Amino acid sequence: MSDNVFNKIAAMMTEIQSYTIDNAEQLEAFRIQYLGSKNAIKPIFGEIRNVPNEQKKDFGQKVNELKQAAEGRFNTIQTLLKKQSQSEAAADIDLSAPAYSGFGGARHPIATTMGKIIDIFERIGFVVAEEREIEDDWHNFTAMNTPEDHPARDMQDTFYLKDSVTRLLRTHTSSVQSRMMTANKPPIRIIAPGRVYRNETISARSHCQFHQVEGLYIDEKVSFADMKQTLLYFTREMYGADKEIRLRPSYFPFTEPSAEMDVYWGLESETDYKITKGTGYLEILGCGMVDPNVLSNCGIDPDKYSGFAFGMGIERQAMLLYNIGDIRLLFENDIRFLKQFQSVI
Ligand code: PHE
Repeated sequence: MSDNVFNKIAAMMTEIQSYTIDNAEQLEAFRIQYLGSKNAIKPIFGEIRNVPNEQKKDFGQKVNELKQAAEGRFNTIQTLLKKQSQSEAAADIDLSAPAYSGFGGARHPIATTMGKIIDIFERIGFVVAEEREIEDDWHNFTAMNTPEDHPARDMQDTFYLKDSVTRLLRTHTSSVQSRMMTANKPPIRIIAPGRVYRNETISARSHCQFHQVEGLYIDEKVSFADMKQTLLYFTREMYGADKEIRLRPSYFPFTEPSAEMDVYWGLESETDYKITKGTGYLEILGCGMVDPNVLSNCGIDPDKYSGFAFGMGIERQAMLLYNIGDIRLLFENDIRFLKQFQSVI
């Protein structure tokens, strides 16, 4: 009789060890069979009364081993199945799928255009000088040889600060010229990028705020030819080695002689016609030899020193470079517009 019970235990042990468990359902069936409230091991405990006393200890141990074996297998396989389902979930990830791309930001076309211009002048020894946007009328106008009754000083053209007749938003970066000349001794070789303001009606072509890059070179014996070569170098670096420039006589209170510089853009396409108004030439900047009055106003001896200066608008150039049709787009910060410059460096 007791042999019978021990055989039963041995048979059940084999059963437990060889039970096929390949998935969660089989594992659950196994649990119910051997570890559930009505499990198959329980009735074997009841047989203890048929076991002779001297075998009772051995019997107890063997039945416990059954229980432990069942628990052991259950735990091992449960862990294995968990691991398997995790790696299956991982295998579901398509590693070749294109990544979701967030908007990583982009440099503003004004900044990239300004950066290009600065790079070009830095290569030939110009140093960046940045100055204030809120100026006084002396640095913006008077020192720059602009008469008291000049129309540019008019409230209609210049933004004055509230309740002030002397404090204003600079109308050009030429104010940096007078700042630099009063604070430094020649040689002076600077470029001044920055924002300027004019009281103008906003349209597709003009805005009340825009950007300029000013250039100033003061030393002994600086000539008009030096200016022309510097500007030709700039144009070819910026727009291509085959570009030609022309200087047209012009007028600015702070330079004498003064000129406007045009770049020959060509007349090949309809756009060329449109942007050059049929002339083939694009006006890029104003320039000239620094007026001796400006030098003396700023404490520099005009008999010893001479120099040239130029000032260029950035928006026009950015619009040319990136084919932008309306200046207002540059100030509205519409994300759909800005996004297009993500790849521009
Ligand atoms: N300040 C002038 C303008 O805003 C440009 C300029 C600068 C012209 C320097 C000559 C010399 O139009």
